[in-house]
Amino acid sequence: MKKITFIGTGYVGLVSGAAISDFGHRVICADISKEKIRQLNNGSVPIYEPGLTELLKKNINAGRLSFTYDIKKAIRDSEIIFIAVGTPEGKDGKSDISAVKSVAQVIGENINEYKVVCTKSTVPVGTGDLIKSIITEHNFNNISFDYVSNPEFLREGSAVKDFLWPDRIVIGSENKTSLNIMKEVYDPLYINDKPILSTSITTAEMIKYAANAFLALKISYINEVANLCETLGADVQDVAKAMGQDGRISSKFLHPGPGYGGSCFPKDTKAFAKLSKENGEVMHTIEASIKSNENQKIRMVNKMKTLVGGSFKDKKISILGLAFKPNTDDVRDSASITMINEIKNNGGLINAYDPVANKSMRKIFEEINYFNSWEEACKDVDAVAILTEWNEFRSMSIKRLKQLMSKTILLDTRNIIDVKKLKEHKFTFDNVGRGINNNVN
Ligand code: UGA
Repeated sequence: MKKITFIGTGYVGLVSGAAISDFGHRVICADISKEKIRQLNNGSVPIYEPGLTELLKKNINAGRLSFTYDIKKAIRDSEIIFIAVGTPEGKDGKSDISAVKSVAQVIGENINEYKVVCTKSTVPVGTGDLIKSIITEHNFNNISFDYVSNPEFLREGSAVKDFLWPDRIVIGSENKTSLNIMKEVYDPLYINDKPILSTSITTAEMIKYAANAFLALKISYINEVANLCETLGADVQDVAKAMGQDGRISSKFLHPGPGYGGSCFPKDTKAFAKLSKENGEVMHTIEASIKSNENQKIRMVNKMKTLVGGSFKDKKISILGLAFKPNTDDVRDSASITMINEIKNNGGLINAYDPVANKSMRKIFEEINYFNSWEEACKDVDAVAILTEWNEFRSMSIKRLKQLMSKTILLDTRNIIDVKKLKEHKFTFDNVGRGINNNVN
């Protein structure tokens, strides 16, 4: 059993902390936000993430998991300190690592015996050296510590599952002592034959950016293929399916859509591009993906505009799906934001519905109309735009939808609605890369 502290109770800190306590370790999740800690101590979970509430409850009840805003004490009481604070987009697309730096200082000031300091936050390649130097600078009694990088690959919406059943665990370290301590943390997974990749710290930092940027690039690629399919009359769903059956390509992250969003891909691609430029090795592919993704979001707006006759003025449009992907209440950088902004700023009216993200979107757009079901949100509207592929939209009755709407116009940015049904009910519609005049099966 290891004594562990996670600093930062966002998606990564909370999910990883809860999951690691489930391995049998004693975990303290610490955060400077007293409000967050108060909520967690009262048993309420600040984010929507399938399986997380149960995991937290189980481990709190077992006495292995607790929450505090006394970060200093949590550091002193632990052998391993995970840094899991946010690294949002800063100036010029660079990653803002100010929270990581201040945590490093607090760690340095509170080292009382040997510790392993481990970064889980996504930080620019080379940040490990900076963190080490900040800790050393404030470590007045010169107490020994090791630094490791352990990037996280979990996805929002399936974070608990991704953490407990990872494809791999990457540990960047400088010596056997810290590597072995980290291996003990992940022991239960190790026993399950999960590959632990041991690398240098810089390489571990690079793996995280290289993986995220590659996935973003893959999405941009299929989005552009989809756009060309539209012009040439091909169906991207079949193209992607056939491509994905090639083991070298794989079918994952090959779904065209309204452009990737979330707290990771948009920010990480920009930070990676910036880093490459600063180091004289411009990554043209990543720069292209960033541009392509922005274009894709605007392309969806233009599709909607065309469908409603060239202007949003006085058009009432229902937006179904606000989260950047299903099974999360996170709306950061979601394609729905671009769509809502453009419709709103050009005289249109918006009805919005998301199974769990209405509350998050209300913080960005207070004035639009929110509803508690797709039926209510689609009543008497001129058009519907599906922005997130929630299961309940996949199973939506098109017949019922038609009865509710005042006009029958639909934009399916996730290709989840059966085109044959839309044709059958005489919808004017568009989607992504399906060549609407095609004989879609
Ligand atoms: C992403 C990575 O997938 C995780 O491995 C990583 O740990 C995480 O970032 C992070 O750096 O913390 P996440 O942003 O939570 O995870 O969600 P994804 O499932 O990757 O989706 C990102 C965006 O891409 C969403 O907007 C989604 O709709 C879009 N997407 C995804 C597509 O448009 N097409 C696809 O085929 C897949």
